[in-house]
Amino acid sequence: MAIEGGRIVSPPPAGAVQPANVIDARGGLLTPALVEPHIHLDAVLTVGQPRHNLSGSLFEGIAIWGERVKDLTVDDVKRRVAQVLRWQVANGVLFVRSHVDVCDPKLTALRALLEVREEFADQITIQLVAFPQQGIQSFPDGEGLMRKAVELGADVVGGIPHFELTREYGEQSVKFAVALAHEFNRLVDIHCDETDDEHSRFLEVLAAETIRLNMQGRVTASHTTAMHSYNNAYAYRVINNVARARMHMVTNPLDNSVLQGRFDSYPVRRGHTRIKELMAAGVNVCIGHDSVMDPWYPLGYGDPLQAAFVLAHYGHMSGAEELKRLLEMITFNPARALGLPDYGLETGGPASLVVYEAPGEVDALRLIPRRRLVLRRGRVVARTEPALGHRELKAETEARRALEHDVVAVHLLHARARDDLRGEHVDAVELAVAGQRRVEPSHGARVAVAVRRRDLGRAP
Ligand code: FE2
Repeated sequence: MAIEGGRIVSPPPAGAVQPANVIDARGGLLTPALVEPHIHLDAVLTVGQPRHNLSGSLFEGIAIWGERVKDLTVDDVKRRVAQVLRWQVANGVLFVRSHVDVCDPKLTALRALLEVREEFADQITIQLVAFPQQGIQSFPDGEGLMRKAVELGADVVGGIPHFELTREYGEQSVKFAVALAHEFNRLVDIHCDETDDEHSRFLEVLAAETIRLNMQGRVTASHTTAMHSYNNAYAYRVINNVARARMHMVTNPLDNSVLQGRFDSYPVRRGHTRIKELMAAGVNVCIGHDSVMDPWYPLGYGDPLQAAFVLAHYGHMSGAEELKRLLEMITFNPARALGLPDYGLETGGPASLVVYEAPGEVDALRLIPRRRLVLRRGRVVARTEPALGHRELKAETEARRALEHDVVAVHLLHARARDDLRGEHVDAVELAVAGQRRVEPSHGARVAVAVRRRDLGRAP
């Protein structure tokens, strides 16, 4: 592949041009940059604050977040978000749609994310969704806050109809959200029917409003887990209407595999949307990560491949052809949902690319390997050497020397490319201490120069 001026160009005849820089992909899989269509950046890295989710349910998660949100400051949000964005870039994610809770008269999280969107613009493209975590009709001045969020610069209008106080409020909230997006020429992405309640049927309202206001292709429904529990005749009808409305769907296997079915006795429902049936009807289905260490999901590091791996199991998508489609669900499909112009591997397109430490799609899913190289518009924005690479071994030796003796192994994560390893910035290190592995931020420490135990003591 040839790259010039940040764009993919036709390779010149051999020997015709001396390239300024040659990167050997060493047979690794190459894809366009990953696209994260559904994450809640304002909530990342808050797990356990102010308390842990003991039931594991969505509703306890919302209650805990309602307590945590009272302590939000712009700095608090920006610090946590910056950490996860660095992880995402290292994972090859260069396009992100983040929901942001706007049930806050000060709109603190949104103001922080608007600043982050600008500050990281040269590394990662961020779309922000005005997301009413506590509801639009059920929260004081919910409609006013949504409108203000859009006026401040939110790209997408959200909603959460199944959490509204009544079914009527839920319907009203969907109609309000689509109308607001229509008025301001924005996209729509609604948390829709994220429950095991088979009577939660707001997706049909969303499809109807999409068609009525001529918003086809501009509307996404996220989660739609209730569809798992619909009777087949109703599911068939609603899926056809979703296809007719040319809606995009986002399923979030990490969160929903642990949040759903919490009120069931045996047999316990899986609680995922009907992915295969939607795809068979021609609907664009994407995979989202949803949470990174927050009140709803205590794990994760922002890697879409992890979410795809879980969906291979939870969505019964382990068939040979199905496995390959999982990669599309974290690249091309979400690129369509976000309305990204200029995406893919075509000649003339931007060279925003990922090279994997794996030879093909199935191996990438199987191994979830670190991304060896991430390029944004032709520029290397992240580089991670193989676990046993020369640079890492050298860094490990030097870092161990600088650390106390109980650290038995240190692996660099997300190291930025530099010719000279000494003095290189790192964003995180993986430690193996007394048999336990954990990942910790190094706060921009320099390998073997400034990595000290005090830099490693703070968990993200
Ligand atoms: Fe979500």
